[in-house]
Amino acid sequence: MDFSITANKRPLIGLSPMAGYTDSPFRQICRQMGADFVITELVSAEGIVHTRKSKLHLSKTFELMNFNANERPILVQLFGADAEVMKEAAKIVAEELKPDGININMGCPAHKVVCNGKGSALMKNPSLAAQIVEAAKKGSGLPVSVKTRLGWEDETGVCEFAKAIEDAGANCVMIHGRTYKQGFSGVANWLPIYEVKKSLKIPVLGNGDIWTMSDFEEKVCNLDGVLIGRGAVTNPWLFAEISALQKGESLSIENNWDAKLIILKQYADLKFEYKKEHGIIELRKFVLALLKGFPNATNVRLQATQIKTLKDVQDIINEVKVLTA
Ligand SMILES: Cc1cc2nc3c(=O)[nH]c(=O)nc-3n(C[C@H](O)[C@H](O)[C@H](O)COP(=O)(O)O)c2cc1C
Repeated sequence: MDFSITANKRPLIGLSPMAGYTDSPFRQICRQMGADFVITELVSAEGIVHTRKSKLHLSKTFELMNFNANERPILVQLFGADAEVMKEAAKIVAEELKPDGININMGCPAHKVVCNGKGSALMKNPSLAAQIVEAAKKGSGLPVSVKTRLGWEDETGVCEFAKAIEDAGANCVMIHGRTYKQGFSGVANWLPIYEVKKSLKIPVLGNGDIWTMSDFEEKVCNLDGVLIGRGAVTNPWLFAEISALQKGESLSIENNWDAKLIILKQYADLKFEYKKEHGIIELRKFVLALLKGFPNATNVRLQATQIKTLKDVQDIINEVKVLTA
């Protein structure tokens, strides 16, 4: 896929990958809401190659990458620190799943990922990072993008790192405006991302702390687009609001409970179709986020912590309808 602002005539808004949240049902909802593209949560390149060898096609690894046609354009996100394994994994993914691109994780700060030189740790090894990009491109024949952070301890090397990625043939760099050291603390710093954009030819997308339409307007600046993560979990309508803004229209979903309940029902149906009761249990956090700040809803909120069936979700929908009538 082409990530550039010139090709799209406006900045792109993508769904940022989030392990445990951005599963196929959620990605489908976000695409429907107006996300321009979505990314699967991170999947181990080694896991894919191992799974293939042991012919465990219906394993958890493949489950994480499976997607529905209505999610396209979709990028499958891989992590790993071995270029040969990355090449093989990217080839398997391209042949078997045919996504619109491969995205390589060079930003995950989780200990079990960085202690093996993967994720964020690759920011300390630009030449290996570049080899991994080349390998993924060769293996898949697809556009390859990289999702990374500002740096390990500070942002001083971010332009150089991004340049190494570009020179290796990456089609896009996506940067979360925090360092490895910061984890998720503090606020995202977008200024170094604007500097990266000035020094690269390939599209650059920014990421971090977009919760509202005005955050988007404030932060997008010279970039080709943004990724939205947590803001989409609490408010998938954000994509619709930003899309409307880009068309010069105005849309605020804040108090539009009819629209919110329609999406809740659709999302619940998808969750149940994909994951049965477990899907509805996972939906609890979404319903609670939806009801945040909703007045006189103590009982409904309590009910939301216990939902297990589609009927439980329908009961909540009915009660919210009564409360908002
Ligand atoms: C629960 C959780 C899981 C995440 N999983 C991934 C992941 O699988 N791959 C990835 O590149 N980033 C992952 N991230 C980082 C997000 O994609 C994003 O970069 C970060 O949350 C900042 O953007 P935001 O402020 O819009 O949420 C995760 C973040 C959270 C909170």
